[in-house]
Amino acid sequence: MSLALVTAGESHGPALVAIVSGLPAGLRLDRDAIDGDLRRRREGYGRSPRQKFEQDEVEVLAGLRHGVTLGSPLALVIHNKDHANWVWGMSPWPPEGEPAGKGSSVVTLPRPGHADLAGALKFGHDDVRNALERASARQTAVHVAAGAVAKTLLGEIGVTVAGTVLEIGGEVTKEGWQRATEAARADRDTLGGIVEVRADGVPPGLGSYADKSDRLDARLAAALMGIQAVKGVEIGEGFALADKRGSEAHDEIEPDLCRTTNRAGGIEGGITNGEPVVARAAMKPLPTLMRPLRSVDLESGEPGEALVERSDVQAVEALTVVAEAAVAWELARVAKEKFGGDALVDFVAANAAYLERIRWPRKP
Ligand SMILES: Cc1cc2nc3c(=O)[nH]c(=O)nc-3n(C[C@H](O)[C@H](O)[C@H](O)COP(=O)(O)O)c2cc1C
Repeated sequence: MSLALVTAGESHGPALVAIVSGLPAGLRLDRDAIDGDLRRRREGYGRSPRQKFEQDEVEVLAGLRHGVTLGSPLALVIHNKDHANWVWGMSPWPPEGEPAGKGSSVVTLPRPGHADLAGALKFGHDDVRNALERASARQTAVHVAAGAVAKTLLGEIGVTVAGTVLEIGGEVTKEGWQRATEAARADRDTLGGIVEVRADGVPPGLGSYADKSDRLDARLAAALMGIQAVKGVEIGEGFALADKRGSEAHDEIEPDLCRTTNRAGGIEGGITNGEPVVARAAMKPLPTLMRPLRSVDLESGEPGEALVERSDVQAVEALTVVAEAAVAWELARVAKEKFGGDALVDFVAANAAYLERIRWPRKP
């Protein structure tokens, strides 16, 4: 059975939920590891005060007994603490009583760069909130929880996945990031940046060139581009390769079948080649500006200023965690496709038998 993930939940609704199916039975999950990743997602310079308010913790409703997966769908819930302020505005059923609290007035001024206008037109919403609540990156919390589960599965075959920040607002040092963030905050503006995710211990042979949808580079690109505000993805040296000669662009093969360079980012022909998998994602500056851009009131047709709502100055450090989860999820999915296994021991044994067949790692 292949790994599958379905999620639901609005930013200020009662909760975010995820159903993860296809996990082998016998995988021991660590609640602290999942909550630890949720905490990492909330932290970071430049995030909004909401992140201090939301003490995200995962609740498991199904698929787990005494910390060990049963092989049945795993149901995860993360309650939105902030929902307490939106009980009327985000009530799933017609609310009782007079409008009260946040979300009780209609939003008609879409933010350039957010999903507000395109979503309202597409779904026929008069209240832009009906689009933005699901489009919001709040839903990445539950993807991070699923990613933590994927990392646990990958750990059983010796694969680790980690994300780091490369740039924030064009700055490459931690001091520069903080300075740029504070300057943007003072100007009531926002920033973007670049993150890198690296997976070590990945066996050669994950993914395929058989069809374009099988290619692991394509799958990772879709997984990373699927994250809100990510507008560029590179595998290995990516765009920089276009300016190089072939002799400087490829990774020569040593007697042990390893490489001394990794410009390909561990993927050739859509298949892992045994080197670390390296992917980068570029995030645009966040669209909610405290000094709003020009917009149009969708009700009156009059020019106006875009919606201002509590928002991050930048969320690049958070993106490292979300991107790490996305890469881990896709790698776990492709590993499960290759090694199968209803029970974890079968998954692990299939990986070991495969590595033995290809004699990996090779002795020089
Ligand atoms: C971790 C994370 C946090 C984000 N926080 C905000 C935010 O506070 N304010 C905002 O306007 N956009 C934020 N975004 C980006 C928007 O969700 C995104 O721009 C919007 O959904 C439109 O999608 P698009 O940029 O992919 O077109 C965040 C994105 C991520 C990945």
